Amino acid sequence: MAEELIVTSNLSKEKKYQELYPQIFALIQGEDDLIASLSNMLSALKYGFGWLWVGVYFVKNSELVLGPFQGPIACARIQLGRGVSGTSWHNKETIIVDNVDKFPDHIICNAASKSEIVIPVFDSQGEVAMILDVDSDMLNDFDKIDKEYLTKIINLIAPLL
Ligand code: SME
Repeated sequence: MAEELIVTSNLSKEKKYQELYPQIFALIQGEDDLIASLSNMLSALKYGFGWLWVGVYFVKNSELVLGPFQGPIACARIQLGRGVSGTSWHNKETIIVDNVDKFPDHIICNAASKSEIVIPVFDSQGEVAMILDVDSDMLNDFDKIDKEYLTKIINLIAPLL
């Protein structure tokens, strides 16, 4: 396993994902512990992109419960259909929010958050088992490139769910 993450500055977003993807793959390859792999993956994303918050919530007993993350402290529990995360879980779809102030019912865990992307991860029965939540302190920070690569990256974890 590489001991240091290689993050080249001034790369385009897509090139940065292409640089990080094989490193994340290598980090979690051969590790079958969910929390260990998730923690390294989230760290690589946080330090690779410099986002405000990168983490997951697990579906547990009909609510989302905070899992491993990198960034400031966050809300521990989120109800189905509440906030961006609870809505993504309810609708079973990825949500990109360009400006969180314009998302009805956005849950403010950190006032510095300006835009976010939430991606549901499904178990083998097709149920949402976990969601990936990434927050940025800049408006309009996420687009279809993030959706494509983050979906690919977070689904490396799906076999461990
Ligand atoms: N803003 C999210 C809550 C989770 S945090 O940002 C870490 C939401 O509305 O679901």
